[in-house]
Amino acid sequence: MNQTDASLEAAEFHEASGSPGASGSPGASGFDRIAAPYDRGMAPLEKLALRRLRSRLLSFAQGRVLEIGVGTGANLPYYPGSACLAAIDESAGMVAVAARRATTLGRCVSLGQMSVEALGFAGGLFDTVVVSLVLCSVISQRRALGEIRRVLRKPEGRLLLLEHMRPRDHSLAWLVDRVNGPWVALNGRCHLNRETQQTLVQAGFQLEWVESKLGGFLRLIAARPS
Ligand SMILES: C[S@@+](CC[C@H](N)C(=O)[O-])C[C@H]1O[C@@H](n2cnc3c(N)ncnc32)[C@H](O)[C@@H]1O
Repeated sequence: MNQTDASLEAAEFHEASGSPGASGSPGASGFDRIAAPYDRGMAPLEKLALRRLRSRLLSFAQGRVLEIGVGTGANLPYYPGSACLAAIDESAGMVAVAARRATTLGRCVSLGQMSVEALGFAGGLFDTVVVSLVLCSVISQRRALGEIRRVLRKPEGRLLLLEHMRPRDHSLAWLVDRVNGPWVALNGRCHLNRETQQTLVQAGFQLEWVESKLGGFLRLIAARPS
């Protein structure tokens, strides 16, 4: 058994065709409720921009890959075939949907229910960590990024990020700041105006490249643990 297998087993992971084994976490209930209709709701955005951005970002994934907050598995079709993939989400409902998608795609992935804020993996285990549309809704970005940094191989490991955040464009940032309050009140978790790129640097990551869309509201980022 290699180190990946041992760590995945320790974390009580199951294969893609199985059902989630761990018990639910309190914060996951909102995402459990939207797991079934999530893909339908996101379809217009996927078509408009997300599919293209996912495909570009994931072309950089290599080696042992951990995806954080896998959701319904929207990224799964875009991983290079060579990537050895593990994926976690705190929501059992989301993990179940991702497991079905992995089976349909014939994609081998070790899926588990787990919070990014307490990852059950040995330090330095992964070559790539992928995070898309998750850091907007974690309770503590600092804790999440600290855990991601811990499990990345240093110094060569790479974090690949697709996130919305507070735009660079001032007028857009003004608008997003005003919409954020009602938006959070409505959905409970997702924040529109977090300074995610700054927090990334403060958490000990060195930016490799950043691609901004929509005035910096959407960003693709590759970063190394410094
Ligand atoms: C908006 S969805 C994005 C799903 C997917 N990454 C995508 O790109 O479509 C956010 C996902 O992050 C997960 N999530 C939120 N906080 C988390 C945490 N602390 N640990 C693990 N997963 C978390 C949610 O359960 C949900 O599946």
